[in-house]
Parts: sequence; C-alpha cells; structure tokens
Amino acid sequence: MSTAVAPLEFPPYRTLANDELRARIQAVRDEMGSRLLILGHHYQQDEVIELADLTGDSYQLSQMAASSVDCRCIVFCGVHFMAETADILANRPEKLTSRAGERIPVVLPDMAAGCSMADMAAIGQIEDAWEQLAEVIDVSDLTPVTYINSAASLKAFVGRHGGIVCTSSNARAALEWAFARTSRVMFFPDQHLGRNTALGMGVPLEAMPVWDPYAPELGGSTAEQLVASRVILWKGHCSVHQMFRPEHVAQFRANHPGIKILVHPECPREVFDLADESGSTGKIIKTVEAAPAGTKWAIGTELHLVNRLKQQHPEQEIHFLSPVVCMCATMYRIDLAHLAWSLENLAAGTPVNVIRVDEETAQWSLTALERMLEVR
Ligand code: 13P
Ligand code: SF4
Repeated sequence: MSTAVAPLEFPPYRTLANDELRARIQAVRDEMGSRLLILGHHYQQDEVIELADLTGDSYQLSQMAASSVDCRCIVFCGVHFMAETADILANRPEKLTSRAGERIPVVLPDMAAGCSMADMAAIGQIEDAWEQLAEVIDVSDLTPVTYINSAASLKAFVGRHGGIVCTSSNARAALEWAFARTSRVMFFPDQHLGRNTALGMGVPLEAMPVWDPYAPELGGSTAEQLVASRVILWKGHCSVHQMFRPEHVAQFRANHPGIKILVHPECPREVFDLADESGSTGKIIKTVEAAPAGTKWAIGTELHLVNRLKQQHPEQEIHFLSPVVCMCATMYRIDLAHLAWSLENLAAGTPVNVIRVDEETAQWSLTALERMLEVR
C-alpha cells in the first residue's frame, strides 16, 4: 500500500492545519476504501466524528467490530478498552478462520487515550478481592459482572469465573442474567452504573456494600455486610459524570419550567434518581431525536456529545447539565493530527499504535463479551 504523502514521525503533524489534515485523512480513506473501517465513539470531537465511517455507543461499536466483513483494519477513535474489545471481537477464532488466519490490526490513534474509570480496577486488586471474599462468602455463588469500561485482563477474569460484560445499554439484562445463575453479584468498576441499575431492579441499598480496594481488609466492609450483600460494588467511578450534582438539576428545574433531565447512568445516584430519563449515549441521542420541537433538555453526559446535539437540534432547547466543563480529556486526545498520522502509517504498511490483546486474555474476555452480545 502507498499514499501520495510519505508518513512522518508524529510531531510534525501537530503543525499542520486542519484542512490539510482532513485532506490527508480523506486521501487514505479513498485509497483504502472498504478495507478501512474508522469507528468513532459519540464522545469524540466533531471533526473526528465527521471522518468516521460508523459512530455508536459502546454496545453498538462492539457489534460493529464483531460483524465487520470487508474491512482489513480498524482505526478506533475512542479509548483504550474499546480498541481492546474491537481487537478481541474482530480477531476471534471464527473470524480468523474465515480470513485464512489474517488478523485485523486495530489502531488507537493516541495511546494516551485511556479511561480513568477502567484504571480504577487493576487485575491484581480484583484477584486479591476475590481471595478475600472467598474467606467470608461462597464465591461459587457469586457472579462477576464488569462494565465494558475495563481492561481486557478484568474481562478475562470475569469470563474465567462464569461472568459477563455489560454496557450502559444492557446493564439490567446482564444483572438479570447473573442473578439467574447465582444469588450474589460483584459489579466492576463503576459503582454508579451498578448501583443505579440494581436499585431499579429492587435490590435495596443496604444489600450493596462498596468494595474499596485500598481498605486494609474486606474492602472496608464487615464480614456480616458481605454475607448480607446481593451486589458488591467496586469503588470506581467516571470522573466526567461524577461532576453532575443534584443542585444542578434543581437549578434547571427552577429556572426552566418544564425542562427534562436526561442523564447517563454513570451519574451518581442522587442525580440519576432526579432525572426524567436516562440511558447510554446511543439512547440519549435517540431520545432527543424522537422529542417534539420545543422540548427543553438539560443533559448530563460528556460535553462534546451535548454540544453536537445542541447544533443538530436547533428546534429544541438543549443545555449542558453542569456549569462546570465536563469533558472526557482522554477521548479528546484523539484529534485530526493523530488520526492522520496513524492512517498514513497504516496505508504505508508501517502501522503504529496497534492494540493487541494476548491470546489467553482474548479467549477468556471473548467468553464474557459473547455473553454480553447475547443479552439485551
Ligand atoms: P456508552 O457510549 O456505552 O453509553 O458509554 C459511555 C462512556 O462513558 C464510554 O466510556
Ligand atoms: Fe472513561 Fe468516563 Fe471518559 Fe467514559 S467518559 S471513557 S467512563 S473517563
């Protein structure tokens, strides 16, 4: 493969104007055609979204990676755990067989695009927690459920222990799946998604102790609390969504009569409980699209998505739920410069930033991801 312009080391791309970067990205897209699939999460900035082939929430993007047929490489405009998931699904054994062993490289344009929530649950901490739990409860009656916002090593742990991955769009179905198998669940790493979902299913708050991996023992709970638990919540959160506060909801309700509050379930319970509607980024978009002209919204999710909805729906009145800027700094690391750099290297046959999950981790993660794709 070749492009008109030979790829450079990264730094010079920073100095190129956006128009030139766009033209260079487009040149690679034209040259590679359907062999290249650029996926973009809804939190990406507009200029990246405009150049993506497909956009979606975490569940939809996983499905896209799992069902890709023509493509021979994926460039993932999102964060690290999403690229890992795409690698596992696009290169699962049946797909490799159908391509005579050919792997699809999955590229993350900037390796610094991580997720602070995923980083809050290191595999060593999880294994240690499980060992400690085994001393006070029957772990064969405990199903681990991990939010997709987690490292592949945690997904593999969950797969090995009979558990399931979920996204914000199927968390309830995943918990139902888990409760059909065991009487107790452990939910990683987002305590808010776990708590909001389980409360909606009637699990009382007292039956949901939070496991703090930094507590000296038993995650900061007593043995009695763990024995009485139904859902053990890992002490993780999204730094973006925890910025939304109940007082923001109160201010909007007071100043904008009739306004509807629409939030992502990664928001804390005090905000989630006050909202009129909630859901994944995909559901937030659909909800606004389906609303009649004149609807007023205060939306609690990442800033780029809310601003884009505001531009796309001038017939509605859309506000960002917090007075403080809440953007996902790591999603924002994916910019045109990194996209052009990674695409030109891909086209030149010198791919950079390829995310490759080792075989054993991929195999066990796949077990848990396949369960996720089956429940809705
Ligand atoms: P969804 O797109 O699945 O709603 O996830 C939001 C998010 O925080 C991704 O990291
Ligand atoms: Fe992670 Fe929160 Fe950013 Fe999503 S918005 S990628 S959960 S830090």
